[in-house]
Amino acid sequence: MSDTSQAKQTAFKPRVFSGIQPSGGLTLGNYLGAMRRFVDWQDRGLKEGFETIFCMVDMHAMTVWQDPDALRRQTRELAAGYIASGLDPEKSILFNQSQVPEHAQLGWIFNCVARMGWMQRMTQWKDKAGKNTQNASLGLFAYPALMAADILVYHATHVPVGEDQKQHVELTRDIAAKFNHDYGQEFFPMTEPVIEGAATRVMSLRDGSKKMSKSDPSDMARINMTDDADAIASKIRKARTDPDALPSEVEGLKERAEARNLVNIYAALSDQTMEQVLQDVGGKQFSEFKPMLAELAVAKLAPISTEMARLMQAPEEIDAIIGKGAAQAREIAAPVLAKTYDIVGMIRS
Ligand code: TYM
Repeated sequence: MSDTSQAKQTAFKPRVFSGIQPSGGLTLGNYLGAMRRFVDWQDRGLKEGFETIFCMVDMHAMTVWQDPDALRRQTRELAAGYIASGLDPEKSILFNQSQVPEHAQLGWIFNCVARMGWMQRMTQWKDKAGKNTQNASLGLFAYPALMAADILVYHATHVPVGEDQKQHVELTRDIAAKFNHDYGQEFFPMTEPVIEGAATRVMSLRDGSKKMSKSDPSDMARINMTDDADAIASKIRKARTDPDALPSEVEGLKERAEARNLVNIYAALSDQTMEQVLQDVGGKQFSEFKPMLAELAVAKLAPISTEMARLMQAPEEIDAIIGKGAAQAREIAAPVLAKTYDIVGMIRS
């Protein structure tokens, strides 16, 4: 924890929470921007003695249509992805959002704290609802208030996320601050978004100006965690690039979004900085660099996808793990919700 965040958080002990939507296949963006960093936080939590809590946010996923069987499968697949990436249910709490009703209960209270204008400013709402806002679900609009509840029902102080979630974590702080101010209590912490590492924004393989996303209509735009070696190699081979050789300095990647993205992915997968990567590959053509990247991506991702496939053979084991996680999560969430009910004047008898 940084000195400044420690100073601001004196009343709250550190606790880490984050979540991923089971709204489709996991991408390399989810892995590098989130899951791999969750594992780092898990290790740090063990050493420094704080809890780490990771969630499959199925209630968020259904803000856009989800086929019920697909939602169930994707939720288990995400749990398998967490475990295969190195999250250990003995070390972190792993669970499914809808199994802990306190999220929805606190979410309602935050719907009454958050202002319409705050929600309307959310860039993800604007992107996802598109031009036809009248036809978007009410849940999609209220989504950031539920996300604030996910975080604050655990009094989480640190939330590791990719760049695209920063605005939502900042809104969580606004909701906490308004709640604390309106009820005259320092009850909710000012949560810090933790956006760090080489890959906070992994871009599409087809368009370096767009985020790599599970909802991109083109499967060639992303690497899925379940892709086999051939698919990974073929997507990297066909990734859009420019005709120039790679530069030796990061400066030389300016205005070369696609080239920058591939170097960035290489850096993140090999735990190096972009500078270090370019020292080795500067001067190489993409015809030489792409096979290197494909080999590295396969080496890192294949063991994870193999383990995910193995875990998916035993869905009852996954359900048992997340059931246990939900019980652990409720032990933390229930007293926070109970106190919130007291603060706002709800009778609990
Ligand atoms: P979601 O499901 O879209 O993404 C999960 C995590 O993956 C990160 N991510 C990326 N990082 C780098 N490059 C990319 N291309 C990329 N794509 C996705 C996201 O930043 C995120 O960290 N609203 C959240 C889920 C959520 C949540 C929460 C997160 C619900 N409640 C509470 C933290 C705390 C979302 O839609 O993430």
